Amino acid sequence: MLTILLFPLAFLLTLTHAYANPGACTGDCNVHDLSVLQRSSDGKYYRFSTGNRITIASAPSLTGPWTNRGAAIPSGSSIDLPGAEDLWAPSVHKVGTSYILYYSVSEFGSQTSAIGYATSTSLDAGTWTDHGRTGIASSPAKPYNAIDAALLTTSSGEQYLSFGSFWAGLYQVRMNAGATAPAGAPSYQIAYNATGSHSVEGAYMFAYGGYYYLTFSSGVCCGYDAGRPAKGEEYKIMVCRSASATGGFVDKSGKACKASGGSVLLQSHDKVYGPGGQGVFTDSSQGLVLYYHYVDTSVGYADGQKRFGWNKLSWSGGWPVV
Ligand SMILES: *[C@@H]1O[C@H](CO)[C@@H](O)[C@H](O)[C@H]1NC(C)=O
Repeated sequence: MLTILLFPLAFLLTLTHAYANPGACTGDCNVHDLSVLQRSSDGKYYRFSTGNRITIASAPSLTGPWTNRGAAIPSGSSIDLPGAEDLWAPSVHKVGTSYILYYSVSEFGSQTSAIGYATSTSLDAGTWTDHGRTGIASSPAKPYNAIDAALLTTSSGEQYLSFGSFWAGLYQVRMNAGATAPAGAPSYQIAYNATGSHSVEGAYMFAYGGYYYLTFSSGVCCGYDAGRPAKGEEYKIMVCRSASATGGFVDKSGKACKASGGSVLLQSHDKVYGPGGQGVFTDSSQGLVLYYHYVDTSVGYADGQKRFGWNKLSWSGGWPVV
């Protein structure tokens, strides 16, 4: 009798992967499309996110208390395009002795977009200098939409910017030494979903154990309070990998990520709905940490209610696991 009762339970548990719940956050924890890093000089935590011309928050610990410190680019971007007053999707990286912040200038659903950048030596509000365009831009003539930039530096010091959203998917371009502009060679596709509305965006790459991992957000990002997509079509975080930083990305089943491949790293579970806008950084105490925004279904589905989530990554068979 006991065996009969327990068997179906064990079977169900092996079918459903249980995701860890988001790590704790206290203080200012509402974010959208974020970038998290520790300042190299003192280990202080910084978080940059979409809204109010790139909101800067800082904290003594990853769990908080997080305090909003103001705008990174308070006067708006010098890029002369619609959206220059409403900057999106910051990604902040250390290049040499300075920090670089990439941002997107665009409008929702528009392919008239550009990736801009600003620099600072301290990460603090009031210290950022906007430099305008990186030279990566798009119009309806291009196969991609030039938004959602993130930088990868390889072990040999080469720098690649990944970017893109919808249309022909995710692209990458080799950057110059300062990572301020393409190094001269053309950009190329690294991932594409041929299905539906080709809704892949927000690429973020990192290196681990001899592989380059490409994470991205797939599905419907926003507006869940007005109407939710079919189950499973809300934002989720996908992962692909390759021994090369510049192509050949495949998912766990070996399917090419330029041919609709991609394995789920994190999707809706428990009170978490539509996680995305992610990145990965090396925390000084916890190692590789995945961060993202998500809807806490016990709080609310509006874009302005999205929460800061993070999880230490663990590994299984060469793939990251939450
Ligand atoms: C591709 O798009 C379909 C339809 O939206 C979606 O169900 C699927 O999960 C997507 N795959 C990837 C790898 O993003």
